[in-house]
Amino acid sequence: MSKKLLIANWKMNPDSLAQANQILEAIDGHLEGMMYRNFSLVICPPFIFLEEVSKTLTTSRLGQSAFLGAQDIALEDSGGFTGEISGPMLAGLNVRYVIIGHSERRWKMNESNEIVNIKLKSALRNTLTPIVCVGERERTADFKDFLRNQIKETFAGLSQEEKEACIIAYEPVWAISTTPGAQPDSPEGAHDSMMVIRELLPEAKILYGGSINANNAHDFLSRADMDGVLVGGASVRTEEFLKILTIAAAL
Ligand code: PGA
Repeated sequence: MSKKLLIANWKMNPDSLAQANQILEAIDGHLEGMMYRNFSLVICPPFIFLEEVSKTLTTSRLGQSAFLGAQDIALEDSGGFTGEISGPMLAGLNVRYVIIGHSERRWKMNESNEIVNIKLKSALRNTLTPIVCVGERERTADFKDFLRNQIKETFAGLSQEEKEACIIAYEPVWAISTTPGAQPDSPEGAHDSMMVIRELLPEAKILYGGSINANNAHDFLSRADMDGVLVGGASVRTEEFLKILTIAAAL
């Protein structure tokens, strides 16, 4: 089985650097005790902690097992973009991955497919690996058409090679834990949607995200058709996240 990818999307958590360091120390200690790690871990903290997490990863053992990811990227590499963080700034902090088009940005911050497309190009221009989030807001009768259109517009103007260099996170919005009444998708349901993604991006790595926790992580990670998981809320619940790492290591 190829190495699974675990993305920890900390979102706007935790509240302090001290808490961020506690999470990292716990992960470090846990990974140290593992004989065999058949997964890669990407930690995506809020921008404000990137520099410190980067230092931790470059100066500790954890850096041998974990990579650094950002949660967003500016449209352009420089210029008047108040409040934004550019691709060159991220690359300068040893950031290797960047989440693009997360549904919380698409729906709460009104990021259109066109904006997501420009950010995607910004990441690729700066040799950052994009983790591109796609997913329907509701599972209506025509949700697959919605997904196809979202993917076409998000990836517009990219060569097939550039498209395949991206990691895709299929995250149905209704399954994300911050959505009221959220329930995880079933592995079969997620597989069905991923087939739509595969039609357009046959070679890309495709992950599932949406209410992954220690109880359901195995159901998704053990499937050959899923390249990994994107974990939100559970990635900052330390004990739970360590259980997910144990599950990934035992696959
Ligand atoms: P969740 O979040 O695991 O808390 O549902 C996933 C995500 O939003 O990336």
